[in-house]
Amino acid sequence: MNQLTFELRSGKYYYHYPFPVAIIGVKVDEKVNFMSVAWHTQLSFDPPLYGILISPKRYTNELIKQTDAFSVNFLKFEDYKIAGFVGRTSGKDLDKVKTFELKYFDGKVLPVPVLENAIACYECKIVDQKTYGDHILYVGEIVGIHYDKTYYDNGLSKSLLLYHGNDRYTYALNKSIKFGKEEVYNELSNKKV
Ligand SMILES: Cc1cc2nc3c(=O)[nH]c(=O)nc-3n(C[C@H](O)[C@H](O)[C@H](O)COP(=O)(O)O)c2cc1C
Repeated sequence: MNQLTFELRSGKYYYHYPFPVAIIGVKVDEKVNFMSVAWHTQLSFDPPLYGILISPKRYTNELIKQTDAFSVNFLKFEDYKIAGFVGRTSGKDLDKVKTFELKYFDGKVLPVPVLENAIACYECKIVDQKTYGDHILYVGEIVGIHYDKTYYDNGLSKSLLLYHGNDRYTYALNKSIKFGKEEVYNELSNKKV
């Protein structure tokens, strides 16, 4: 018998966390807002599509409806406070850029704000959207990527900020194991099936 506990459906569940934190940036005229998301995913390499899940309750959702673009900013672990600041306050109540002294610059291609603290940022043009339950999936085509070479080793990040759920933050420990096709086939050749 296995040791797994089973629940028939469940309310809020976090068993599949951690997730990288993404800070979504939106700009409408001179209004700029950032919010944290844990729910986001790459959807396709070609074309390069990226999905973000935004609750209709968010101020970001009001803004995003007035534009056709967003930025997806990734942070280093040391900047976890930015994720808390923009993820636990709403642009409905305060100007986050001013209050938290966030520095950004305009995207190279799209009118989106790129956080200066980001170690990587995708400029995305919205190509589709669909409501799933209590969130809206916005699909963006990545038209350009900014990244800080010092935080990436052969394209792999060293200290990307991860969200554990329940307001806890972490990062991947400096332990990585290569287990690719070569290693899989090596193991297979030693197996007698
Ligand atoms: C780490 C973290 C992850 C979050 N992930 C999401 C998410 O994936 N989708 C979402 O709609 N809200 C998410 N939130 C909540 C929003 O960031 C939060 O409600 C924020 O205040 C919205 O800001 P806005 O009203 O200015 O848009 C998250 C919050 C935190 C702290």
